[in-house]
Amino acid sequence: MCRRDAERIYVGKERDDHAVPQEEINLMLVRLAKEGKRTLRLKGGDPFIFGRGGEEIETLVEHGVPFQVVPGITAAAGVASYAGIPLTHRDYAQSVAFVTGHLKENTFNMNWEGIARKDQTIVIYMGLKGLPMLCEALIKHGLTADTPAAIVQHGTLPTQRVITGDLTTLPALAEEAGLKAPTLIIVGNVVKLREKLGWYQPEPNSALSHRSPLEAADTLR
Ligand SMILES: C[S@@+](CC[C@H](N)C(=O)[O-])C[C@H]1O[C@@H](n2cnc3c(N)ncnc32)[C@H](O)[C@@H]1O
Repeated sequence: MCRRDAERIYVGKERDDHAVPQEEINLMLVRLAKEGKRTLRLKGGDPFIFGRGGEEIETLVEHGVPFQVVPGITAAAGVASYAGIPLTHRDYAQSVAFVTGHLKENTFNMNWEGIARKDQTIVIYMGLKGLPMLCEALIKHGLTADTPAAIVQHGTLPTQRVITGDLTTLPALAEEAGLKAPTLIIVGNVVKLREKLGWYQPEPNSALSHRSPLEAADTLR
């Protein structure tokens, strides 16, 4: 939706495939701004949640470049809503932890005691590859093996798929379903609510679902 004469530079990232290294993105923002260009850094979700937005504006601050940050809807909020899973609920969860499931040298460096609590919802970003190890670690650190868990592929999109199970069954169910990134994992008793509250049923072949959820909602109004 940007103006036709705007220059668009792709710096997108996929797992292990970063079109432009982060350091270069940071410096590119500085260079473009110093050339006098009005520059927009467009990112997915919220720039400050696993988005490296902090590093980008740190570089701007260091180079004296003024900026403004527009907050976004982070995947945890958007995806959970479209999966019919409220992240907090008075009967089930009093807190939420946003966690990265990105493995570093094949291990997780996490405060598991603070994360694995039965009255807390755990939302795991970037966790598809590490799902079996994550489930195992959560059980080892105190959650019961039958704690409800879900993995959501392409949340909010017509290709959304939601697989539910528990900490024991979810890894095999996800593998069997052949899910594609991006996916978000939600662990906790709130996942049980999806059965009753799951409201978004994408129909990939219908004309309506080829529009964005927002456009589809407009049509229904
Ligand atoms: C590098 S993080 C960026 C998060 C982003 N800054 C945000 O606030 O949502 C990318 C991860 O977000 C999650 N994600 C983003 N969009 C998603 C979607 N539509 N469905 C499921 N997960 C998504 C996935 O876990 C993905 O690996």
